[in-house]
Amino acid sequence: MALSRRAFIGRSLVAAAGLTVADWLWLGQDGAIGTAIAQTTPSVPEIFKVPPLPYAYDALQPTIDRETMEFHHDKHHAAYVKNLNTAIAPYPDLHQKSIEELISNLDALPADIRTAVRNNGGGHDNHSLFWAGMGPNAGGQPTGAIGRAITDTFGSFEALQTAFNQAGAKRFGSGWAWLVLDRQGKLAVTSTANQDSPRMDGQTPLLGNDVWEHAYYLNYRNRRDEYLKQWWNVVNWPVINQRYEAAKA
Ligand SMILES: [Fe+2]
Repeated sequence: MALSRRAFIGRSLVAAAGLTVADWLWLGQDGAIGTAIAQTTPSVPEIFKVPPLPYAYDALQPTIDRETMEFHHDKHHAAYVKNLNTAIAPYPDLHQKSIEELISNLDALPADIRTAVRNNGGGHDNHSLFWAGMGPNAGGQPTGAIGRAITDTFGSFEALQTAFNQAGAKRFGSGWAWLVLDRQGKLAVTSTANQDSPRMDGQTPLLGNDVWEHAYYLNYRNRRDEYLKQWWNVVNWPVINQRYEAAKA
């Protein structure tokens, strides 16, 4: 089978530069090659910024390894932010909007940047939620109001985990598994493709797991199921509970 142009360029770059698997994963992601080129161009305004990790790169080991965190946060998330800033730069009236406002009503955006904001604004918001929703010395049973709501809705925490892991495992290609507050104010498990956010469907994301290969491939290779299972060890339930209580309020 003939290589796609992107794959050919990517593999050529990898071969020419002697890059690592992590480099290849970064270059292989949607838009990353374009971003690699765009990053050589100056003067993209810093309208949105990548939030610093609230813990060290190696703090989530052994669940998530240091190199994955470095590439995921410093390369992938940074690329989404840079592409988002590039997209909205020509539209000053968008610069004061929050990321939630931007991606919750894509139809209100100029047509020529709608797809870029969907992909890169979604990527920025999804990853910001992802970093803050994890932590060292975390995991265990959900506590507080979110813990009670999970039991009321799903029957048990274990039932939620099963539904959530199935949503992540069944997501074909790249995307996310979510625990959301739906339009009716009920907890629900869902999945989105690519960097789509539940906010684009009127839902509030509470807990999300990134099932793009860049999130797990260095450590887990093709075993997405195992990554989904282990990931619960780093879920920061007090933060998820705060999101739940804020969304209910
Ligand atoms: Fe990611």
